Amino acid sequence: MNNNPIGVYDSGFGGLSVWRELHRALPRESLIYLGDGKNCPYGTKSEEQIRELAEKAVGDLVERGCKMVVVACNTATAAAIEYLRERFSHIPIVGLEPAVKPACAMTRSKVVGVMATERSLAGRKFLSTLERYGQGVEVLKVVGEGFVEAVEADAEQEPRTEELVRRAVEPMIERGADVIVLGCTHYPFLGDVIRRVVGDREVAVIDSGEAVEKRVESLLDKFDLRCAEDNSPKLEFLSYADEEYRSRLERKALR
Ligand code: DGL
Repeated sequence: MNNNPIGVYDSGFGGLSVWRELHRALPRESLIYLGDGKNCPYGTKSEEQIRELAEKAVGDLVERGCKMVVVACNTATAAAIEYLRERFSHIPIVGLEPAVKPACAMTRSKVVGVMATERSLAGRKFLSTLERYGQGVEVLKVVGEGFVEAVEADAEQEPRTEELVRRAVEPMIERGADVIVLGCTHYPFLGDVIRRVVGDREVAVIDSGEAVEKRVESLLDKFDLRCAEDNSPKLEFLSYADEEYRSRLERKALR
């Protein structure tokens, strides 16, 4: 048993989509959310830059006593997860990957759309996952241009955001995709808009939130890290940007 917090880290607001799953399933656990904010977006940065940023962030969470860290960012996972696991080998570090495997198992049209950042789509792990599970499936790789910026600006419901989403999603459906993978933790915040664009067409939209939550639970059990049943959970929100950004993080999480 361990009442220390679980750390959740992302370049900005995106990881809150994972934070919400964790908080819903594990309401007694203390959570520290660190949304960098200052260096967002990560998706266009080099692997080296992201590795450096992720090392600092995870280091700060470890210093605050986190018993486990969830890298709730596909981009940071693609660039740095192995490095982070070596560097902080005394705690479990959970990463996030686009849900390619379930998508390829689910598709009937044999066309799947994967939306993620530039860096994630170029990652070695992603390419080897495609190789392994994507046999016989056409996988359309699409960067959600402007999606991260829209979520960071709280502009999910603006007409210009719907236009961006339409431009990314429509061509995938036209090419026959019946499953769309949200491979960036910012994108689930656009879930309503994506579903509006999909309309009544039979297209499943999936993300990795629930799978990561399950993975966290299995690691809590494996290493006997669950908090006590009467734990009074503390929810903290941190950022490297200013206080205004930090308090927006907190509001967005609890909304
Ligand atoms: N939310 C992140 C991801 O899952 C990164 C977005 C970004 O900073 O570009 O990839």
